[in-house]
Amino acid sequence: MQLSGNTILITGGGSGIGQGLAVALAERDNTVIICGRRQAALDETVALNTAIHSYRCDLSNPDEIDHLVRQLSYDGHAVNVLINNAAILNHYHLGKPERFDRAMADTEIRANLQAPVELSMALLPLLQQQSSPYIINVGSPGGIVAVSTSPLYSASKAGLHAFTQVLRLHLKDRVRVVEVFPPTVETAMTTDIHRAKVGVNSCVQAILKGLEQDRDEIWIGEGKIVRWLMNLLPPGWVFKLVNSQPSMHPK
Ligand SMILES: NC(=O)c1ccc[n+]([C@@H]2O[C@H](COP(=O)([O-])OP(=O)(O)OC[C@H]3O[C@@H](n4cnc5c(N)ncnc54)[C@H](OP(=O)(O)O)[C@@H]3O)[C@@H](O)[C@H]2O)c1
Repeated sequence: MQLSGNTILITGGGSGIGQGLAVALAERDNTVIICGRRQAALDETVALNTAIHSYRCDLSNPDEIDHLVRQLSYDGHAVNVLINNAAILNHYHLGKPERFDRAMADTEIRANLQAPVELSMALLPLLQQQSSPYIINVGSPGGIVAVSTSPLYSASKAGLHAFTQVLRLHLKDRVRVVEVFPPTVETAMTTDIHRAKVGVNSCVQAILKGLEQDRDEIWIGEGKIVRWLMNLLPPGWVFKLVNSQPSMHPK
């Protein structure tokens, strides 16, 4: 992928990896558009580079997705790269149904799976009108090997992985479809997770390198160990091994 001259929509660009990508890509002469629910977070990213455009949008609401797509068209943004980055991670114990919060679960699944599906489908006509269209989904190693403490995050990222694979097949020769597997990164999402983390900047640089190398899947840092184990051992063993690590459990 050419890392300049694109018009890029990054969901969840108000913080963490999305913010890092927004700033890095804006510095490389791309038109960068971010969206998210919190205006203050979006403003924080725009303050880092005032050329970045921002739209407030709750992607868990299909009407807001439709509104965002109409607004982008109306504002003349010829988006050729969609980065589905926004996500939510909640911790649950499925053996404690009395603590299960249906609204929280619904928001998590919508943000992590339904929103990327709906936004990809809604933006596809616009993407296909551009030269060099891309859909880049930010997945997780936790979608390949489920993490017991965040079951719906893992389930939704597993769904996103399946969606990404089929999307790549169906859009072959029309739209490049890429999936990114970050390791544990120091962001708001991992505040309760106490294990070695990489900084946002190093994750962003690895993503850009993977895009430049035109990879379909960009595995970064410790995430590569998961992929390697999955190639080596039966999936059930890897699940047990990963979830037996004390560092996998938030304090
Ligand atoms: N950090 C890690 O260790 C790690 C590891 C593997 C994969 N990932 C993936 O990397 C991506 C970025 O995560 P991060 O670590 O940078 O987390 P983060 O800082 O919490 O960022 C998540 C972003 O998503 C936005 N978002 C959440 N729900 C939304 C909704 N309904 N509508 C619009 N925006 C929404 C949030 O903005 P608002 O709250 O303002 O809406 C926030 O800016 C995610 O896909 C995550 O699963 C992260």
